[in-house]
Formats: sequence, structure tokens, C-alpha cells
Amino acid sequence: MNPQAQVTTLKIDEREMGAHADQTILDVARENGIAIPTLCHLEGLSEVGACRLCLVEIKGSNKLQPACVTRVREGMEVVTQSERLQRYRRQILELFFSERNHICSVCVVNGNCELQTLATTLGMDHVHFSYLYPNVPVDASHEWFGLDHNRCILCTRCVRVCAEIEGAHTWDIRGHGIESRAFTDFNQAWGESETCTSCGKCVNVCPTGALFRKGKAVGEMAKQIGFLPYLRTMREELK
Ligand code: FES
Repeated sequence: MNPQAQVTTLKIDEREMGAHADQTILDVARENGIAIPTLCHLEGLSEVGACRLCLVEIKGSNKLQPACVTRVREGMEVVTQSERLQRYRRQILELFFSERNHICSVCVVNGNCELQTLATTLGMDHVHFSYLYPNVPVDASHEWFGLDHNRCILCTRCVRVCAEIEGAHTWDIRGHGIESRAFTDFNQAWGESETCTSCGKCVNVCPTGALFRKGKAVGEMAKQIGFLPYLRTMREELK
């Protein structure tokens, strides 16, 4: 594929638009002011297609496709808003809420949480699935930061920012399915990690209260994520 090749017969939500062949549906939609909900996607990090919030319909296919990892192509007709998509997106959010213990009223990022904001904007008024109430720990061993597994949605933003931007690769995910857990190094306590540089990037990119700063009030927990595309560009120019 020539990444600079032009795609000229693309339609998103009935609007004709041009794109490059290496762009994803999400890239092109956002460039043209079309909002698609996302959680694992973050500008400046690689794409993993983990959360499925960005599912869209593609005419001619019964399968919904994640917009963040699906490249545009000639003749593609994409639908980003429909009753079916809204229903699936709400169900995906409900599954996140039922899998761990997301109690917004006592969460340190209440009001600054991407999961909470999406639940509100997509009209999720309650959870139709049984809550699992897992008994998961909080790792408060780091001097400045904490990891609360109750609020982790396994988006892997922390893993990717640590490996791709900081270059430390302190974080990873172990286990399968509902037993999956974020962990540092060889699964020791975060405060005992030998690779963590304490840069705080993982905390800043976390979309929920899973990674948090100690000693901060709710109103001080707004995450800073705008630095990533800049850092990525700088690293690539230095190669
Ligand atoms: S944003 Fe596309 S799968 Fe998560």
C-alpha cells in the first residue's frame, strides 16, 4: 500500500470525503468533525483496538468494525451513528462497569473520568448485567502514585505510553479475560519496580481512576494527555 495514495470515493455518514490510504476511519472522521467515541485510542500512541467503543457500520458488511484500526479504502461507506451502534456502545460500557468496582461517587477522578463521561454522553442510565464485584487490590507502594485495580479497564494506554514514549516498558498485562491485571516489571509492587522512572505519563493517560496521584483532591485529578503527539514527533525526529 502506498500510504500517500488518495482515497477519493469514501463516504462517512453520507458525506463524501478524501483521505490517504494509510488513514483509519477514525482519523478521517475526526478530521472532518465527526465524533466517534473511543477509550483505548489516544493520539500519539499505537492502536490496539481493545475497547471496541469505536465500532462503526460499513455498508455491505454485517460485521461492525473498530474505526481506530480499520483503514479507509475506495468505495467504502461508513455509518458512525445508528440506533444499533448506540445500543452496542452502551452495552460495552455496561460490561466495563459490571466487570470491576467503578463506584463514581467515591472515585478520586469523579468528574474527570473518560469512562464516566462516555456513560453520560451515550445515555447509559443503568447496568443490565450482573456485577462481578471482584476482590481486587490497590497497590499504594509507589511514593507518589497508586494503582487501583477496581477501576482498571485494561485499555493498555499505560503499557503503550511507558513502552512507546517513555521507553521504559515497566507496565504490561498478565492473565486472561476477567483475570487480566496490569502489572509492573516481574509482578512486584509498583514501588519496588526497578524500571519505573516515576515520570507519571501512565497516570496522565489513564482514562479512569485506576492510576492516580496520591494526595490529590478530586478537582485536581484532571489528566494531561495533550503532550503525547508532540513527544512522539520529537522522538521520531531524533531517530
Ligand atoms: S478506540 Fe477503537 S477499539 Fe478502542
